[in-house]
Amino acid sequence: MGARLPFDLIRMHEQVSSPPERRIKASVQRMSGYVPGEQPASADIIKLNTNENPYPPAPGVADVCHDFDLDKLRQYPDPVSAPLCDQLAGLYGCHAENVIVGNGSDEILALCTRAFVEDDQKIGFFDPSYSLYPILSDIRDVPVVVTPLGDAFEWREPVVDGCGLFMLANPNAPSGLSIDSARVRAFCEAFEGVVIVDEAYAEFADDHCLALALELPNVLVVRTLSKSYALAGIRLGYALGHPALISALMKIKDSYNVNALTQAMASAALADQDYLVATVSRVKATRARLQEALQALDFDVVPSQTNFLFVRPTHRRADALFAALRERNILVRHFTDERVCDYLRISVGTDDEIDALLRALKDIQSS
Ligand SMILES: Cc1ncc(COP(=O)(O)O)c(C=O)c1O
Repeated sequence: MGARLPFDLIRMHEQVSSPPERRIKASVQRMSGYVPGEQPASADIIKLNTNENPYPPAPGVADVCHDFDLDKLRQYPDPVSAPLCDQLAGLYGCHAENVIVGNGSDEILALCTRAFVEDDQKIGFFDPSYSLYPILSDIRDVPVVVTPLGDAFEWREPVVDGCGLFMLANPNAPSGLSIDSARVRAFCEAFEGVVIVDEAYAEFADDHCLALALELPNVLVVRTLSKSYALAGIRLGYALGHPALISALMKIKDSYNVNALTQAMASAALADQDYLVATVSRVKATRARLQEALQALDFDVVPSQTNFLFVRPTHRRADALFAALRERNILVRHFTDERVCDYLRISVGTDDEIDALLRALKDIQSS
């Protein structure tokens, strides 16, 4: 006993004196984490900053919540969400083997970086695009190849040297612009690696790439219930594609990646396609009205195929306008990256919320 004491003391000293950072992977130390849009605690704020749907989810979702048998929570959920995959396959005219569901589409995007990129490969995406892509690449600890979009955020031929994976948000965020599916097809056919077509906003758009996912062996279309189905809080995303790609993702996902309540609520939402169509067309009508009103107030507005508008104020700096709106309890999104710092991203809210926004903008302009 006595002989071991000095040794233990040395070890204790070493533990105290070596900084905890030394135990963290160098790549994790270097990276910065994803910065989500603010989720304010106050209900008084008009929240137009994270592209949530301003309308409630389909009525069947509330019924599921009310009637949910709490005894089911004792047990683990279905590990592969089989009924939900069957339902999605039915909706899109494919097989359950073409479908995986995840804890939001963010989880599926992360799985793709692990399944389809070798350690000596890279991940490609456009700039600007979904700000999570570079973070996921940092987590995966591989280099990125960034293709700058044109001055008006239009398509540029992607640079893909050394890439095993290309992440393509279509419609794009934060611009809201959509890329023609024929052009996406030509790119996917020419690319050796896997293309993720991230269709988080597809239900608000005129075009989509589902056919590519079901026809080409290297394309996954990823969608979410967070936006058009008004269910960001339950975290449900899914991917459609070739069974080989899907089963690769199945192998590496968390065993129980979608909880039981989410599986049940998502199923109720997907079952009510009439409600989806009605909600989406309400949002699109408000989007058109907001675009016109902002143009009348001298904003440059990027044509949107999503539930948000990317706009450039011409009379005041974007960061100042963001702050002035914040003072009036209206929250929009401002990104500080050089490429987009002159813009604000405004989610399409209810008509009342948009009226309040327009009143505030007029008030700020006249002050
Ligand atoms: C382009 C894009 N993809 C994916 C997501 C994430 O969706 P989910 O809520 O399903 O994780 C978002 C969310 O804002 C997004 O803008």
